[in-house]
Amino acid sequence: MLVSAKEMLNKALEGKYAVGQFNINNLEWTKAVLLTAQENNSPVILGVSEGAGKYMGGYKTIVGMVNGMMEELNITVPVSLHLDHGSYEGALKVIEAGFSSVMFDGSHYAIDENIKKTTQIIKIAEEKGLSVEAEVGSIGGEEDGVVGNGEIADAAECQLIANLGVTMLAAGIGNIHGKYPENWKGLDFTALAAIKAVTGDVPLVLHGGTGIPESMIKEAISLGVAKINVNTELQLAFAESTRKYVEAGKDLQGKGFDPRKLLAPGFAAIKAAVKEKMELFGSVNKA
Ligand code: 13P
Repeated sequence: MLVSAKEMLNKALEGKYAVGQFNINNLEWTKAVLLTAQENNSPVILGVSEGAGKYMGGYKTIVGMVNGMMEELNITVPVSLHLDHGSYEGALKVIEAGFSSVMFDGSHYAIDENIKKTTQIIKIAEEKGLSVEAEVGSIGGEEDGVVGNGEIADAAECQLIANLGVTMLAAGIGNIHGKYPENWKGLDFTALAAIKAVTGDVPLVLHGGTGIPESMIKEAISLGVAKINVNTELQLAFAESTRKYVEAGKDLQGKGFDPRKLLAPGFAAIKAAVKEKMELFGSVNKA
Protein backbone atom coordinates (compact mmCIF):
# COMPACT_ATOMS: atom_id res chain seq x y z
CA MET A 1 0.00 0.00 0.00
CA LEU A 2 1.23 3.48 -0.84
CA VAL A 3 2.06 5.66 2.14
CA SER A 4 2.42 9.37 2.78
CA ALA A 5 6.02 10.56 2.89
CA LYS A 6 5.60 12.05 6.35
CA GLU A 7 6.76 9.21 8.54
CA MET A 8 9.67 8.14 6.34
CA LEU A 9 10.98 11.72 6.15
CA ASN A 10 10.63 12.45 9.83
CA LYS A 11 12.53 9.25 10.54
CA ALA A 12 15.19 10.25 8.00
CA LEU A 13 15.60 13.67 9.58
CA GLU A 14 16.01 12.11 12.99
CA GLY A 15 18.40 9.43 11.74
CA LYS A 16 20.44 11.90 9.63
CA TYR A 17 19.96 10.28 6.26
CA ALA A 18 17.83 11.14 3.23
CA VAL A 19 15.15 9.30 1.27
CA GLY A 20 15.58 9.44 -2.49
CA GLN A 21 12.83 10.64 -4.78
CA PHE A 22 13.41 8.95 -8.11
CA ASN A 23 11.35 10.27 -11.00
CA ILE A 24 9.65 7.62 -13.10
CA ASN A 25 8.89 7.68 -16.82
CA ASN A 26 7.42 4.32 -17.71
CA LEU A 27 6.96 0.73 -16.57
CA GLU A 28 10.66 -0.13 -16.71
CA TRP A 29 11.57 2.88 -14.55
CA THR A 30 8.89 2.08 -12.00
CA LYS A 31 9.83 -1.58 -11.75
CA ALA A 32 13.55 -0.81 -11.52
CA VAL A 33 13.09 1.70 -8.70
CA LEU A 34 10.64 -0.46 -6.72
CA LEU A 35 12.77 -3.61 -6.98
CA THR A 36 15.93 -1.75 -5.99
CA ALA A 37 14.20 -0.25 -2.95
CA GLN A 38 13.01 -3.68 -1.89
CA GLU A 39 16.41 -5.32 -2.45
CA ASN A 40 18.07 -2.63 -0.34
CA ASN A 41 15.34 -2.51 2.29
CA SER A 42 15.01 1.23 1.70
CA PRO A 43 12.03 3.57 1.82
CA VAL A 44 11.49 5.30 -1.52
CA ILE A 45 9.53 8.10 -3.16
CA LEU A 46 8.42 7.75 -6.77
CA GLY A 47 8.34 11.20 -8.37
CA VAL A 48 6.00 12.01 -11.24
CA SER A 49 6.16 15.36 -13.01
CA GLU A 50 3.06 16.65 -14.75
CA GLY A 51 4.72 16.01 -18.11
CA ALA A 52 5.63 12.43 -17.17
CA GLY A 53 2.09 11.94 -15.89
CA LYS A 54 0.68 12.90 -19.25
CA TYR A 55 3.26 10.76 -21.05
CA MET A 56 2.38 7.66 -19.04
CA GLY A 57 -1.30 7.94 -19.85
CA GLY A 58 -2.56 9.96 -16.91
CA TYR A 59 -2.36 9.84 -13.13
CA LYS A 60 -4.90 7.04 -12.71
CA THR A 61 -2.89 4.84 -15.05
CA ILE A 62 0.17 5.41 -12.87
CA VAL A 63 -1.67 4.71 -9.63
CA GLY A 64 -2.97 1.45 -11.12
CA MET A 65 0.48 0.45 -12.36
CA VAL A 66 2.27 1.22 -9.10
CA ASN A 67 -0.32 -0.42 -6.87
CA GLY A 68 -0.42 -3.49 -9.10
CA MET A 69 3.34 -3.79 -9.17
CA MET A 70 3.69 -3.43 -5.42
CA GLU A 71 1.28 -6.30 -4.91
CA GLU A 72 2.58 -8.60 -7.65
CA LEU A 73 6.26 -7.99 -6.91
CA ASN A 74 5.79 -8.18 -3.12
CA ILE A 75 7.12 -4.71 -2.42
CA THR A 76 6.85 -4.25 1.33
CA VAL A 77 9.18 -1.27 1.94
CA PRO A 78 7.46 2.12 2.41
CA VAL A 79 6.67 3.64 -1.01
CA SER A 80 5.23 7.07 -1.59
CA LEU A 81 3.82 8.16 -4.96
CA HIS A 82 4.46 11.88 -5.25
CA LEU A 83 3.60 14.61 -7.73
CA ASP A 84 6.76 16.57 -8.61
CA HIS A 85 6.47 20.36 -9.14
CA GLY A 86 2.70 20.29 -9.30
CA SER A 87 0.51 23.17 -10.37
CA TYR A 88 -2.56 23.89 -8.26
CA GLU A 89 -4.79 22.01 -10.72
CA GLY A 90 -2.30 19.15 -11.04
CA ALA A 91 -2.17 18.77 -7.28
CA LEU A 92 -5.95 18.47 -7.08
CA LYS A 93 -5.92 15.87 -9.85
CA VAL A 94 -3.40 13.55 -8.20
CA ILE A 95 -5.19 13.79 -4.87
CA GLU A 96 -8.29 12.49 -6.68
CA ALA A 97 -6.34 9.86 -8.62
CA GLY A 98 -4.87 8.18 -5.54
CA PHE A 99 -1.33 9.52 -5.16
CA SER A 100 -0.06 9.44 -1.58
CA SER A 101 1.98 12.64 -1.66
CA VAL A 102 1.93 15.92 -3.54
CA MET A 103 4.20 18.83 -4.26
CA PHE A 104 2.56 22.14 -4.92
CA ASP A 105 5.19 24.38 -6.46
CA GLY A 106 4.07 27.94 -5.90
CA SER A 107 7.61 29.32 -6.02
CA HIS A 108 6.89 31.38 -9.14
CA TYR A 109 4.06 33.24 -7.39
CA ALA A 110 4.51 36.20 -5.06
CA ILE A 111 4.91 34.90 -1.51
CA ASP A 112 1.35 35.88 -0.46
CA GLU A 113 -0.13 33.90 -3.34
CA ASN A 114 2.21 30.96 -2.65
CA ILE A 115 1.02 30.97 0.98
CA LYS A 116 -2.63 31.15 -0.03
CA LYS A 117 -2.49 28.32 -2.53
CA THR A 118 -0.20 26.11 -0.40
CA THR A 119 -2.62 26.53 2.52
CA GLN A 120 -5.51 25.35 0.38
CA ILE A 121 -3.61 22.32 -0.91
CA ILE A 122 -2.56 21.34 2.63
CA LYS A 123 -6.17 21.44 3.77
CA ILE A 124 -7.41 19.26 0.91
CA ALA A 125 -4.46 16.84 1.01
CA GLU A 126 -4.53 16.39 4.78
CA GLU A 127 -8.13 15.22 4.72
CA LYS A 128 -6.99 12.32 2.56
CA GLY A 129 -3.77 11.66 4.45
CA LEU A 130 -1.34 12.86 1.78
CA SER A 131 1.95 14.54 2.56
CA VAL A 132 2.60 17.97 1.04
CA GLU A 133 5.82 19.50 -0.27
CA ALA A 134 5.99 23.24 -0.91
CA GLU A 135 8.70 25.29 -2.58
CA VAL A 136 10.33 28.63 -1.91
CA GLY A 137 12.90 30.12 -4.27
CA SER A 138 12.55 28.52 -7.67
CA ILE A 139 15.07 25.87 -8.59
CA GLY A 140 16.96 26.60 -11.77
CA GLY A 141 17.57 24.54 -14.86
CA GLU A 142 15.06 23.07 -17.21
CA GLU A 143 12.41 20.55 -16.34
CA ASP A 144 9.63 19.63 -18.74
CA GLY A 145 10.31 22.79 -20.70
CA VAL A 146 9.94 24.99 -17.64
CA VAL A 147 13.08 26.97 -16.89
CA GLY A 148 13.48 28.26 -13.33
CA ASN A 149 15.80 31.10 -12.35
CA GLY A 150 17.84 29.26 -9.74
CA GLU A 151 17.38 31.36 -6.65
CA ILE A 152 18.61 31.26 -3.10
CA ALA A 153 15.44 31.02 -1.03
CA ASP A 154 14.72 33.76 1.47
CA ALA A 155 14.83 32.28 5.00
CA ALA A 156 11.97 34.45 6.27
CA GLU A 157 9.75 33.23 3.41
CA CYS A 158 10.76 29.64 4.14
CA GLN A 159 9.68 30.14 7.74
CA LEU A 160 6.27 31.46 6.66
CA ILE A 161 5.66 28.45 4.39
CA ALA A 162 7.03 25.92 6.91
CA ASN A 163 4.65 27.32 9.53
CA LEU A 164 1.66 26.49 7.34
CA GLY A 165 2.15 22.85 8.27
CA VAL A 166 3.81 21.47 5.15
CA THR A 167 5.28 17.99 5.48
CA MET A 168 8.51 18.95 3.70
CA LEU A 169 9.97 22.05 2.16
CA ALA A 170 12.02 22.53 -1.01
CA ALA A 171 14.19 25.62 -0.81
CA GLY A 172 16.53 26.82 -3.51
CA ILE A 173 20.16 26.88 -2.32
CA GLY A 174 21.95 27.16 -5.64
CA ASN A 175 20.79 23.75 -6.88
CA ILE A 176 19.44 23.30 -10.39
CA HIS A 177 17.77 20.54 -12.39
CA GLY A 178 19.76 18.69 -15.01
CA LYS A 179 23.53 18.69 -15.44
CA TYR A 180 25.49 21.33 -13.50
CA PRO A 181 27.51 23.76 -15.61
CA GLU A 182 31.32 23.76 -15.35
CA ASN A 183 31.29 27.09 -13.51
CA TRP A 184 28.65 26.07 -10.94
CA LYS A 185 29.41 27.61 -7.54
CA GLY A 186 28.08 24.66 -5.53
CA LEU A 187 25.39 24.53 -2.87
CA ASP A 188 25.06 27.50 -0.55
CA PHE A 189 25.40 25.94 2.90
CA THR A 190 25.19 29.29 4.68
CA ALA A 191 21.75 29.76 3.15
CA LEU A 192 20.78 26.18 4.02
CA ALA A 193 21.83 26.64 7.66
CA ALA A 194 19.86 29.90 7.86
CA ILE A 195 16.77 28.19 6.42
CA LYS A 196 17.15 25.25 8.80
CA ALA A 197 17.42 27.59 11.78
CA VAL A 198 13.94 29.04 11.14
CA THR A 199 12.06 26.01 9.78
CA GLY A 200 12.49 23.75 12.82
CA ASP A 201 11.58 20.12 12.33
CA VAL A 202 10.34 20.37 8.76
CA PRO A 203 12.41 18.01 6.58
CA LEU A 204 14.11 19.95 3.80
CA VAL A 205 14.16 18.77 0.19
CA LEU A 206 17.11 19.02 -2.16
CA HIS A 207 16.07 19.10 -5.81
CA GLY A 208 18.49 18.64 -8.68
CA GLY A 209 20.25 15.64 -7.13
CA THR A 210 22.00 14.74 -10.39
CA GLY A 211 25.70 15.59 -10.37
CA ILE A 212 26.00 17.06 -6.88
CA PRO A 213 29.34 15.90 -5.44
CA GLU A 214 29.13 13.32 -2.64
CA SER A 215 30.66 15.58 -0.03
CA MET A 216 28.02 18.26 -0.69
CA ILE A 217 25.23 15.67 -0.46
CA LYS A 218 26.55 14.56 2.92
CA GLU A 219 26.87 18.10 4.21
CA ALA A 220 23.33 18.93 3.04
CA ILE A 221 22.00 15.90 4.92
CA SER A 222 23.88 16.93 8.06
CA LEU A 223 22.16 20.35 7.81
CA GLY A 224 18.60 18.98 7.65
CA VAL A 225 17.98 17.73 4.11
CA ALA A 226 15.93 14.53 4.37
CA LYS A 227 14.69 14.10 0.79
CA ILE A 228 16.80 14.27 -2.36
CA ASN A 229 15.32 14.27 -5.86
CA VAL A 230 17.04 12.47 -8.72
CA ASN A 231 15.80 12.41 -12.28
CA THR A 232 18.33 13.26 -15.02
CA GLU A 233 20.98 10.84 -13.75
CA LEU A 234 18.67 7.86 -14.30
CA GLN A 235 17.81 9.12 -17.78
CA LEU A 236 21.50 9.44 -18.66
CA ALA A 237 22.27 5.96 -17.30
CA PHE A 238 19.37 4.43 -19.24
CA ALA A 239 20.29 6.22 -22.47
CA GLU A 240 23.96 5.28 -22.28
CA SER A 241 23.31 1.58 -21.76
CA THR A 242 20.67 1.48 -24.46
CA ARG A 243 22.97 3.29 -26.90
CA LYS A 244 25.78 0.79 -26.24
CA TYR A 245 23.43 -2.11 -26.91
CA VAL A 246 22.30 -0.65 -30.22
CA GLU A 247 25.77 0.49 -31.26
CA ALA A 248 27.06 -3.02 -30.65
CA GLY A 249 24.40 -4.19 -33.12
CA LYS A 250 22.76 -6.42 -30.53
CA ASP A 251 19.26 -5.47 -31.62
CA LEU A 252 20.10 -7.06 -34.96
CA GLN A 253 21.22 -10.36 -33.47
CA GLY A 254 18.59 -13.07 -32.97
CA LYS A 255 15.61 -11.65 -31.14
CA GLY A 256 17.63 -8.71 -29.83
CA PHE A 257 14.92 -6.37 -31.05
CA ASP A 258 12.46 -7.76 -28.49
CA PRO A 259 11.79 -4.88 -26.04
CA ARG A 260 12.38 -7.27 -23.17
CA LYS A 261 15.96 -7.61 -24.44
CA LEU A 262 16.43 -4.14 -25.94
CA LEU A 263 15.45 -2.36 -22.74
CA ALA A 264 17.19 -4.79 -20.35
CA PRO A 265 20.58 -3.00 -20.18
CA GLY A 266 18.88 0.36 -19.53
CA PHE A 267 16.75 -1.25 -16.84
CA ALA A 268 19.86 -2.67 -15.15
CA ALA A 269 21.55 0.75 -15.39
CA ILE A 270 18.64 2.45 -13.61
CA LYS A 271 18.81 -0.16 -10.86
CA ALA A 272 22.54 0.38 -10.38
CA ALA A 273 22.16 4.17 -10.29
CA VAL A 274 19.32 3.98 -7.73
CA LYS A 275 21.32 1.60 -5.51
CA GLU A 276 24.31 3.92 -5.59
CA LYS A 277 22.14 6.88 -4.53
CA MET A 278 20.45 4.92 -1.73
CA GLU A 279 23.88 4.02 -0.38
CA LEU A 280 25.08 7.62 -0.61
CA PHE A 281 21.90 9.01 0.98
CA GLY A 282 22.12 6.44 3.80
CA SER A 283 18.60 5.01 3.33
CA VAL A 284 19.68 1.36 2.91
CA ASN A 285 18.12 -0.86 5.60
CA LYS A 286 16.00 2.03 6.89
CA ALA A 287 12.67 0.65 5.64
P1 13P B 1 17.72 16.22 -11.57
O1 13P B 1 17.04 15.93 -12.88
O2 13P B 1 18.76 17.27 -11.71
O3 13P B 1 18.23 14.99 -10.92
O4 13P B 1 16.62 16.85 -10.61
C1 13P B 1 15.49 16.09 -10.24
C2 13P B 1 14.50 16.89 -9.48
O5 13P B 1 14.84 17.77 -8.73
C3 13P B 1 13.08 16.57 -9.66
O6 13P B 1 12.27 17.47 -9.01
